[in-house]
This record gives sequence, C-alpha cells and structure tokens, in this order.
Amino acid sequence: MSRLLIVSNRLPVSVERRKGKLHFKGSVGGVATGLGSYHKSHESLWVGWADVPGRLDSLERKRIASELRAEHQCVPVFLTTEDVRGFYHGFSNKTLWPLFHQFTQYAEFDASTWAVYERANRKFRDTVLEVAEPGDIIWVQDYQLMLLPQMLREKLPDAAIGFFLHIPFPTVEVFRMLPQRREVLDGLLGADLIGFHTYDYVRYFLGTARRLAGTEDQSGRITVDGHQLLVDAFPMGIDFDRYAEGIDVPGAKREATRVRERTRSRKIILSVDRLDYTKGIPDRLRAFAAFLERHPEWRDKVTLIAVAVPSRTRVEHYKALKREVDELVGSINGTYSTIEWTPVRYLYRSLPFNTLVGMYAVADVALVTPLRDGMNLIAKEYVAAHAGREGVLVLSEMAGAARELSEAVQVNPFDLDGMVDAIHRALTMPAEEQIQRNKAMVQRLKRYTVQRWAEDFLGRLEEVKGAQAELEARLLDRPAQERMLERFSTARHRLLVLDYDGTLTAFSDDPAAVRPDDWLLETLGELAGSQHTEVVVVSGRDRHTLGEWFAGLPLDLVAEHGVWVRSNGEDWLTIEPMNDEWKSRIRPVLEAFTDRTPGSFVEEKDFSLVWHYRAVDRRLAETRVGELKETLVSLVGDYDLAVTEGNRVIEVRAAGVNKGRAAYRWMCRDDLDFVFFAGDDHTDEDVFEVAPEGSWTVKVGLGPTRAAYSVRHPRELRALLERMAGDGG
Ligand code: UDP
Ligand code: G6P
Repeated sequence: MSRLLIVSNRLPVSVERRKGKLHFKGSVGGVATGLGSYHKSHESLWVGWADVPGRLDSLERKRIASELRAEHQCVPVFLTTEDVRGFYHGFSNKTLWPLFHQFTQYAEFDASTWAVYERANRKFRDTVLEVAEPGDIIWVQDYQLMLLPQMLREKLPDAAIGFFLHIPFPTVEVFRMLPQRREVLDGLLGADLIGFHTYDYVRYFLGTARRLAGTEDQSGRITVDGHQLLVDAFPMGIDFDRYAEGIDVPGAKREATRVRERTRSRKIILSVDRLDYTKGIPDRLRAFAAFLERHPEWRDKVTLIAVAVPSRTRVEHYKALKREVDELVGSINGTYSTIEWTPVRYLYRSLPFNTLVGMYAVADVALVTPLRDGMNLIAKEYVAAHAGREGVLVLSEMAGAARELSEAVQVNPFDLDGMVDAIHRALTMPAEEQIQRNKAMVQRLKRYTVQRWAEDFLGRLEEVKGAQAELEARLLDRPAQERMLERFSTARHRLLVLDYDGTLTAFSDDPAAVRPDDWLLETLGELAGSQHTEVVVVSGRDRHTLGEWFAGLPLDLVAEHGVWVRSNGEDWLTIEPMNDEWKSRIRPVLEAFTDRTPGSFVEEKDFSLVWHYRAVDRRLAETRVGELKETLVSLVGDYDLAVTEGNRVIEVRAAGVNKGRAAYRWMCRDDLDFVFFAGDDHTDEDVFEVAPEGSWTVKVGLGPTRAAYSVRHPRELRALLERMAGDGG
C-alpha cells in the first residue's frame, strides 16, 4: 500500500513553551482536529509548520523534529519570523482568507506578502521532497498552500497529488480581484484531484478556471496541457464515535455536571468558535440580546456560554473583533444581569477535548451561525454528542455543513429577526421533535465520517491516476506510429476516414475561418490520389460547404453527420429518405434562445438544425444548454428526432442518423487491409464503434473514448498524415 503524506500549514500538534520548556498539545481548527483523527489511525506522515513561539536554536529544532516524528508522525517546516509575517499573517490571512469568505472589504493586496507566500510554499515543497518516497500519495491541505500542487508536480511529474480546500471557493467575480489569480489557479491545477466541501464551491471553481484559464471541463474533469485532473465535492465528516461517546472520557462528565450546577435549571445555549470575523459572533450576540429584549419571560431562564478561541491575534481585524465582542458581552451582561444570573458566560480560550465534549453534552441548544464557513465541524460534533437524545442545533445557511444538516433549525445569520425566532423556536421545541431531527442527522454523520471522507478522496485520487495511466498507454507514441506506417505502406486496400473540425483543423470561434489550408488540401489530395487508397472526410458540416472546400479532390464525403454521402465524382445521396417538416417547429425555439444568448447563432442544414455557442460566455452557455436540452426533449419525441451535443454545439436531426452508420458503408468492405479513422468529439465515437477489428482508430484530444489511440492535438494528426502521404506510393 502507498504511504500517505499529508501537507498542511498547521500540524495537528502544537508546540508550546511553558517556563522555558517545550510541551506538545492538540491544535485547534477543522483541518487539525478532523484530519488529525484520521492521521492517528493510519500510516501517514504529516508535513506542516512548527508554530513554536520564540526563537529556536538548532538543538531545539532537532529535538522538536525528532519528537514530532517519533511520537506524532509529523515532520516540521521551520519558518522565519519574516515568513510568518508575510505568508501566514499576511497573504494567507489578510488576503486569501477574507477574499474567499467574501469579506472583500478586509482583503489586502500587497505584492510583498505574495512574494513571501511563494517562498513559503517553496519551503513546504522542499521539506516534502526531503521525505517523499516513490509511490507516496501527497495530499495538500487548504488555502495556505495553493501553489504547492504545481510546485510538486514540476519536481515529481508522476506523483499522485491531491488538494483539498477547507474554506469556501468564491465566485469568479470575487476571485478575479486577486492580482495573482492566474498563479494561484495554475498552482491548484497541478493537482490530480481537487476537493471542496460542497458542490457550490466545485461549480465556482470550474467556472473560474473556465473564465480565467480557458479550461474545458466535462463532469468535473479538466484537461490542461495534456494533464487530466478531477474536481469534486467531498463534505468532510467527523470522527463520529469520538464525539458520540465523548461524554465517557475522563473529565467530560465532571465538566458537564459542573456547568449544569453553575447554571442551575436554566437552559444552556452554547456557542464555540475560533474568534474569527467569518463566524458571525457579534451578530449572534446581538441576536441573543434582541431575544432577551423581545422575550422577557426568558430572562433568568437561559444562559449563553460563548467560547471564543484566540486565533490569528496579530491580524488587525481579529484584534478589532476581540474588542467588539468584549464590548458586546459587557453591554449585554450590564443590561440584563441580576445578582443570580449572568446571561452570557464568555470564555476567551481554547478548551481541551474533554471540557469541550462536556459542554456539548450539557448544552440544550448549539448556536452555530457563521456568516460564511467552508464546512463547520462544531455543528457536526454537537449533533454527534446528542445522538439518540434531545438538543437543538441552530445552524447558519452560510455554513457548508448546512447542506447535510438540513434537519437543523436553519437561519440566515444576517437576519436579526429570523435569528431571534430561531433561538425561541430552539428553546421551545418539543423533546420528541428534537430527537427525531437529531436522528436523521446522526444517520448521515455516522455514515460519512472523516474516515470515509478521507478514504473517498484517496480512492478517487487513485481512480484518477488509473485513468491517466490508461490515457498515457493509449497515446500514439513513436513505436506505434512506426508500426502503423509500416502496415500502411504494405497494405493493398487502404481506407482513411477523417473527421474534419477539431481533427484535421483546430477549433475557432468563427466556423467559416476554419477552411482547409493549402497544406491540408495538398496532403489529402496526395493521399486520395495514391494507389489503393480511399479517403473519406466525415463531417457534421453541410454538403455545400464540404463540396466547395474539397472540390476537385478525388475523395468521398459525408455531410451533416451522415445525412448525405457522396462518392468521388458522383452526386450527393441521402442514406435514407429524409424529411424536414419538423424544422418549422424547432427553428423558432432555437431562435428564441439565440435572442437571449449573445454570441450564439443558428445554423440550418438540409436536415438538421444546429445551435452554436462557442462564442458565448461559458457560464451563460452552461445554463442555456441545460434549458435548451430540457425544452427540446419535450418537442423531439413527436418527430423521431435526436438531440446531440457536439463541441460547443447542440444539433437536432433525425434519430438514427450518425457518422457511424454513414462510415460503415465504406468500412464494411471485406477486402480492406488498412482502415484508419480519426475523430475528436463524441459524434465520432459512433465511428469508433463500427470500425472493423484491427482498425487504427485515433482520438484527437484526451478524454474517454472507444478509440485505440489518442493524440493530443490536430497538429500531431497532421504530422502523421504527412508521413503517410510521404509513404503513400
Ligand atoms: N476545537 C477545539 N477546542 C476548542 C474549540 C474548538 O479543539 O476550544 C475544535 C473543534 O472540536 C472543531 C475545530 O476546533 O473540530 C473547529 O473546526 P470548525 O470546522 O468548526 O472551524 P474552523 O476553526 O476550522 O474554522
Ligand atoms: C480553518 C482553516 C485551517 C486552519 C484553521 C485554524 O479551519 O481552514 O487551515 O488551520 O482554520 O486557523 P489557524 O490560522 O490557527 O491555523
């Protein structure tokens, strides 16, 4: 089995200095706690920053490194004070973090912190290269290391490299504000698999890559520079049993009892987060204050325990947030406290696991209301701690976790009235309903644990590597070319069937701009003119265009995807009786879509109608294609038509007409001893299917295909044809 190398900014263990001595303890934050559980139970090695306060001499570094390695399977990256300032406090947390969480007004754009971000990513790369062994799977985590996949790819071209983003991926409008957007995007595209918590983030990422890097994607598969990668959603889970059984851990029950005694019979609302502006802590406090104001009957009957874990305390916006929260807590307690009751119990510190699960257990309500959050594990941990019993989760719609925890009381954290109502609803919800809601959520959390999440991700990574290997194996390499040319030159009856657009020429936004050039006409002329060789151009284009382009060449033509065929020197024939009555019904539909979609147009052929959208904005096209297909489905049934998708076109024509059926007229002859077909899109797959055994079938472009071989670009196919023409005689 391959070894797993996890790489993240923060290690799952932190080093503290107390009274001059170094101590090790668990880190806070979703990556460290969630993935930390997986790491503990697996043969993995974790590379990350050793965030040790104060200066370290080389002896201390060595000691830390050897203890981390021996006790925790961790390898430290040591960053200088300047690195930490520019990389961690700077570009990671003053630029990327606010931008990706849609706090654009907080994002600072500073070229000097970017340079340090790059340098720090290189340091992580170097440490990985020091420990990596052939066959290792490398799994890079989160926004601090977005350049690392590409940096590693350059050094380890064949390695399996995964990347997971634990925070939201923004929409292209926000992402493109980043001056280094292209570098960051390219950094990520070096991975084999990119994972996000939700499908929304996947969509935003794919849309961004299309718009800013011009990538094409199909079902989340992207091909860039001959490298194929996959983008998908993997909602991170938790170590379910650890939280469900957490109350049995020594100290947890004691903590729960202690809290219960202090709060008497009052209801307890719990709020736990890192003190981060994305978590919506001030809005939550304001909602609690408004709740006490509007529901005086609840005063003295409910206590809010607000745990805020110190985080990124050197960043100004975090300092300002601390002041704001301190003031709000002071003001609420000042307004509503009595001698017996303090409405908000505020703890500004991190809690050890047993204390935290004790608090989860005793809380009647958890108020988890971030303004924006990649996932939010606290919400899941609270539900696990309430498996089979009461307890209400109030959850923000803006957390990634909201997708899976639909039975929680969901709120819009910006809506104060809605928040007040949600608090009231949670406090007054019948016990039976609470249990029912938790049951449904628990079932899901139990199934898709952090273990399953990691296995799912790593399993997909393995699949991607497998598909890449298949693809590589299918590339028409030099030896295969030699074999083919040898067979070609000795064959007595040769058939060359060639698709046109995307195969013999590259695509262009203007269909008229891709007329055959002189080289192509000359080469096809030579091939078709050589002895024992028949050349057929098979295309979706109309017969007039093809007839005009190839006039005078001794070759056969198939037009409109097989509606029309023409043998050299003869007339055009339809391969079966055709009718076009349906056009008057479908044409207005396509025209209506064209009116609403700038850059698109309708092409009318004898027996087909085509909607072209190559020049349409990619995201708009995505929407329109979906709508159009839906609209057409209900219409085509009446006429026995088929709707097919080509390369940036949607085509409607008689069902059963396809290039495969047409090409078969030539391919079915049994005297052929060399059959070659090249095509690029899925309309050509029908030809690959009917090609007789032993044919040389070549797909132009990477991607799934029935063809035996692939080449990356029309250029490569043209080079091959040139060699055939040279050997033609
Ligand atoms: N956590 C902790 N001690 C604390 C508070 C939180 O260990 O005092 C853990 C908590 O159990 C959870 C993680 O920190 O696993 C927070 O993850 P989450 O995804 O909710 O938010 P993040 O901090 O990653 O933004
Ligand atoms: C979030 C980020 C993590 C980070 C954690 C704690 O969960 O996604 O990458 O480790 O917050 O933040 P910190 O800056 O302390 O590592």
